[in-house]
Amino acid sequence: MSVLRLGVNVDHIATVRQARGTPYPDPVEAALLAAASGADSITIHLREDRRHIQDHDLARLTPVCPVPINLEMAVTPGMVDIGVAARPKYVCLVPERREERTTEGGLDVAGNLPAVREACRRLAEAGCTVALFIAADPAQLAAAKASGAPQLEIHTGHYADTDGAEQAAELARITAFAREAQVMGFEVHAGHGLNACNVGPIAAIPDIVELNIGHAIIARSLFIGLPAAIAEIRQAMTVARRAALG
Ligand code: PXP
Repeated sequence: MSVLRLGVNVDHIATVRQARGTPYPDPVEAALLAAASGADSITIHLREDRRHIQDHDLARLTPVCPVPINLEMAVTPGMVDIGVAARPKYVCLVPERREERTTEGGLDVAGNLPAVREACRRLAEAGCTVALFIAADPAQLAAAKASGAPQLEIHTGHYADTDGAEQAAELARITAFAREAQVMGFEVHAGHGLNACNVGPIAAIPDIVELNIGHAIIARSLFIGLPAAIAEIRQAMTVARRAALG
């Protein structure tokens, strides 16, 4: 079976902690449990407003995480400084607006190429493998290539938020985009808004090799625990990928 990795995003463990300013629940403890429960990597998003993950979470997680860390960050010199100092194995550059509830839309690489290229250069020099989080918009591909980033993560938020014909059309766009990106030499990931019910068609796209999932896993873990929530989504991914490969 072609590989489909699962990155578990533990941001919302920190969201619950920050709601009360307590030391618990600890996203580092969640990351260790997620890794022990089969996560291939741990994703954290150090937002500029520090609404969930804090700098000390990154500092505490870095020496103890048994699987690669994927650090999501905005394309700003200050955030890139943090990435260069921490040297996580993976960095995913994302758009960020303070007023948004979550990461809305993809990075406009074409409109910000000099800044994106400079961030990619500095992070690659520090040994990080960089992904760009973008919508399935072929107009971004040439700029993404010019940025030097070796990986793309396709924003699946619109797919997750729609249904019926609109969702089918977005799935077709994502499938075609993943193919084109893979042919251009990118490693292709996807994520945002995925859950055990809607992940199947995305997991079935053979050009996608990694999914990053957070909110749905953490929400589900409230009722069945984190190991079971990870197993549940992994099972949905595996069943869909196997069926697609015949
Ligand atoms: N991938 C990226 C780049 C993201 O910014 C996020 C949200 O932080 C996710 C994946 C995970 O999205 P969700 O929490 O909806 O699963």
